[in-house]
Amino acid sequence: MSRNITTYTDVAVPVTVDVTDAAGIADAFREAALAFGGVDLVVNNAGLSISKPLEATTEADWDLQHDVMAKGSFLVSQQAAKVMRAQAMGGDIIYISSKNAVFAGPNNVAYGAAKADQAHQVRLLAAELGEDGIRVNGINPDGVVRGSGIFAGGWGAQRAAVYGVPEEKLGEFYAQRTLLKREVLPEHVAAAVFALTAGDLSLTTGLHVPVDAGVAAAFLR
Ligand SMILES: NC(=O)c1ccc[n+]([C@@H]2O[C@H](COP(=O)([O-])OP(=O)(O)OC[C@H]3O[C@@H](n4cnc5c(N)ncnc54)[C@H](O)[C@@H]3O)[C@@H](O)[C@H]2O)c1
Repeated sequence: MSRNITTYTDVAVPVTVDVTDAAGIADAFREAALAFGGVDLVVNNAGLSISKPLEATTEADWDLQHDVMAKGSFLVSQQAAKVMRAQAMGGDIIYISSKNAVFAGPNNVAYGAAKADQAHQVRLLAAELGEDGIRVNGINPDGVVRGSGIFAGGWGAQRAAVYGVPEEKLGEFYAQRTLLKREVLPEHVAAAVFALTAGDLSLTTGLHVPVDAGVAAAFLR
């Protein structure tokens, strides 16, 4: 008995865009729609992290983090909704928020507040876009060291110094703080995006999925 086997090849089209630039975002969506015939999944992932105590946090620190994460994801979602509504086929918008959206960690007022802003966008947009079949969900990772530009760009060295561990052991150190004693890796975050968007959770919207190996202080209530 023979079977027809279809082989799918991954195709990616790189487009450079600053998520604080609304016109640039519109151009990026246009390029994606031309390349793929439409847009059905958008992940708000752009971000950066500056951790400082309240009095050391400058207006520039606050503005940059809120521009990229709070405003940036708002602008991207706005354009995503416009395109998805025009297609009238529904779609998925995923926010890579953070454990810090719910956990009040030390010296983190600007980053944590920007992440909490993103987390509430998930709920607000899930409510607003549901009638168009557009699901909006979020993911709350904790301490993904491997492959992270945030950690590689000095944040990891700073955190390692704070905790008194070698920087290359930081992932293992974070793992020991979790309930499952496992290190969170980029593929765990990607797997959560897949779980939310591949079809099995097609009735789920407005949800945040922790991807943190279990952090009791960040349990959702
Ligand atoms: N690594 C972690 O421990 C962790 C934990 C929780 C949440 N997150 C979130 O995950 C996301 C990805 O972080 P990461 O750790 O992979 O860091 P990363 O630095 O590897 O990725 C962030 C990306 O955002 C891009 N970016 C920054 N400003 C931008 C802008 N104005 N326009 C477009 N792109 C911009 C950067 O160029 C970079 O490619 C971020 O939103 C971060 O807050 C990370």
